[in-house]
Amino acid sequence: MNRTVVRVHKPGGPEVLTVEQEPAPSPGPGEVQVAQTAVGLNFIDVYLRSGLYPSPLPFIGGQEGAGVVTELGAGVTTLQVGQRVAYAGAVGGYASVRVLAADKVIALPDGISEITAAAIMLKGMTAEYLVRRCHVVKPGQLVVVHAAAGGVGQLACQWARHLGATVIGVVGRREKAQLATESGAHHVVVLSEQSLVDEVKRLSNGHGADVVYDSVGKDTLKASLDSLRARGLLVSFGQSSGMPDPIALATIGGARSLYITRPSMHAYTHTRAELEESSSALFDVVLKGVVKVKPPTTFPLTEAAAAHRALEARQTTGSVVLLPTV
Ligand SMILES: NC(=O)c1ccc[n+]([C@@H]2O[C@H](COP(=O)([O-])OP(=O)(O)OC[C@H]3O[C@@H](n4cnc5c(N)ncnc54)[C@H](OP(=O)(O)O)[C@@H]3O)[C@@H](O)[C@H]2O)c1
Repeated sequence: MNRTVVRVHKPGGPEVLTVEQEPAPSPGPGEVQVAQTAVGLNFIDVYLRSGLYPSPLPFIGGQEGAGVVTELGAGVTTLQVGQRVAYAGAVGGYASVRVLAADKVIALPDGISEITAAAIMLKGMTAEYLVRRCHVVKPGQLVVVHAAAGGVGQLACQWARHLGATVIGVVGRREKAQLATESGAHHVVVLSEQSLVDEVKRLSNGHGADVVYDSVGKDTLKASLDSLRARGLLVSFGQSSGMPDPIALATIGGARSLYITRPSMHAYTHTRAELEESSSALFDVVLKGVVKVKPPTTFPLTEAAAAHRALEARQTTGSVVLLPTV
């Protein structure tokens, strides 16, 4: 059987994403082969493609997908051929057929389609750990979510609101404000028109936010820190605008005594127990309709470069899913 993959041979712009045909690999011990019907696009794919996150070369892009198990490697007893599955955080995702470790794979419940799974596994488990574990969102807290109309942002806003927080969603421009509101944001800050610090202060009677989830990085980190209440927490979990400048410890101390963390989904789903707990919490809120998933924007897998361009140009909202055809 042949497969289509999108491979990176050298770091660079979207043009380095190279579509190739090759024989599909067979699973080794402890692995499964999956025929993928949907592949998730994530901002980390951009960091790896551009070289911001160095990776051994060449590599197949992507680390999230869903499909059907087509072959079991020796010793795999937890999955069956024909079973619908999904995963997040396993590199090599931009492929019509792939192999991966069986212990990275989660069986999909009825009611979660493969395209929905590809839209939410990585972004949704990220939202899960952000609001339930990295910081435990509690009723009455004031929570700021950057890129609130984006993939992670839409899910995190809804989940934080469900947990009882007042949510301030932050978007780059006015056209995205409605989506942030539909995703549960009680208030929306439009960065092209408003000051984040001023708006958060105004909405909190001068106190500031309990937690700011900042995935934008360079352009927003200082304003995020300045928006926190005393002893508030900055969660810096991404850098879509570039790596933020270093923070001098002295600037977060004294009367404000702030906290900062820099988490990754990998660290919060490292053990099989954590992966199962995070994914089942995610499926639960989606199946109950507490967190609604808008139909993702789709591109053919072979047009991964166009999808990267759209994501980097801030043209996408919600999740983007690549569809293999071969
Ligand atoms: N640490 C983790 O565990 C983890 C896991 C998943 C994702 N992430 C991070 O979460 C963030 C969101 O990921 P996602 O895949 O869901 O993407 P996304 O939010 O759908 O897209 C990124 C958004 O960032 C905003 N942005 C601000 N400045 C930007 C710039 N200069 N270039 C591009 N975008 C800019 C844009 O929204 P506006 O136009 O509204 O500003 C854009 O739509 C990324 O930073 C990603 O690295 C972290």
